[in-house]
Amino acid sequence: MAEVKIKNLSKRFNLDSPLAVDGVNLDIADGEFLVLLGPSGCGKTTTLRCIAGLETQTEGEIYIGDQLVNGLPAGERDIAFVFQFYALYPHLSAYDNVAFPLRAQNLQKDEVDQRVQQVAKLLRIEKILKRRPTGLPSGEQQRIALGRAIIRRPQVFLMDEPLTNLDAALRTDMRVELKHLQADMATTMIYVTHDQTEALSMAHRIAIMNLGVLQQVGTPLEVYNHPATLFVAGFIGTPPMNLINCHLNGSNSLSDESGAFTISISEIQNLKSKIQNPNAPLMFGVRSEDISVDTAEGAGEVRGEVIVREPLGDETIYEVEIGQNIIRVKTEPTLILNTGDNVGLNFAHDRIHIFDAESQKAIKF
Ligand SMILES: Nc1ncnc2c1ncn2[C@@H]1O[C@H](COP(=O)(O)OP(=O)(O)OP(=O)(O)O)[C@@H](O)[C@H]1O
Ligand SMILES: [Mg+2]
Repeated sequence: MAEVKIKNLSKRFNLDSPLAVDGVNLDIADGEFLVLLGPSGCGKTTTLRCIAGLETQTEGEIYIGDQLVNGLPAGERDIAFVFQFYALYPHLSAYDNVAFPLRAQNLQKDEVDQRVQQVAKLLRIEKILKRRPTGLPSGEQQRIALGRAIIRRPQVFLMDEPLTNLDAALRTDMRVELKHLQADMATTMIYVTHDQTEALSMAHRIAIMNLGVLQQVGTPLEVYNHPATLFVAGFIGTPPMNLINCHLNGSNSLSDESGAFTISISEIQNLKSKIQNPNAPLMFGVRSEDISVDTAEGAGEVRGEVIVREPLGDETIYEVEIGQNIIRVKTEPTLILNTGDNVGLNFAHDRIHIFDAESQKAIKF
């Protein structure tokens, strides 16, 4: 087990291409389950491959435990890597696939057997140990690949979208299993995914990247409740946070360009004190569950027209048009509105977000 420290990590593949990883700093605690999350091409795999020693960084230092591992070959970093496309040896049985890394260490046959059985039990693959991977369901193949990775008891697990090729139901099961496995083994885990549900449900902390830049690191609730940047606000949460271009106006409220969306902010003086330019472009953010609908005539902080109803069973999402803006509202499934209805919306003021539209950063007020 070990902590992992990443200092100012950058990677450029070609002289004329942008940085794939841009100055990432990240400290991962011993035994922590850290998820690296972000859209396709944001630099997750590259970061992980640099940690593994499969890619040489352009700049920066990587420490595993107390050891600076820059220049240390992958095989000497005491890590185990699981990829999206797990490469099992097709001609070997599941047993021999799992035992493979131990055989290379010249351990006694008894000890190898004991360790294989232990891992097989943990991953529930005891019954298929004699089978060859070809022809086994993908979930079982993936378990064998995990078995091969964990049997060495490395200091750090690195996993790159290991559940992507599984069907939805199996993925949900494996998520829970992996989480338990990591907790039982207490081995530091760096886990890459572009799936926010996976990240929110598995991670101790999530590190969110965009365009090679680390946006925010925090617990699932921290990044959900207090997104540090517009990117994080729009990326985490389903549906994504409602974001409306606006600015301060003379009457102590925020308005969009047309004035159709205007909302009074009780802590406006506080907000003003944090904004240098009173005309600065801002972004107002609110999650769909932090808005309530008021159907009484003339009620609500803002009023708009229902344009879409999306019933999801346990809740209904309505799209409400206010001037040029569309706001998504999550409601109880028992609230039935029709398209064309004119409704009022109220906002949970302790849960609204204001961002500086230029720096893209959240303004704390
Ligand atoms: N071997 C390579 N040579 C050149 N460019 C590369 C190479 N590998 C990755 N890149 C580029 O680096 C950037 C980051 O890629 P990376 O694979 O790390 O993203 P990712 O976050 O893992 O994306 P995905 O979710 O699609 O797997 C991309 O612009 C990609 O095109
Ligand atoms: Mg990738």
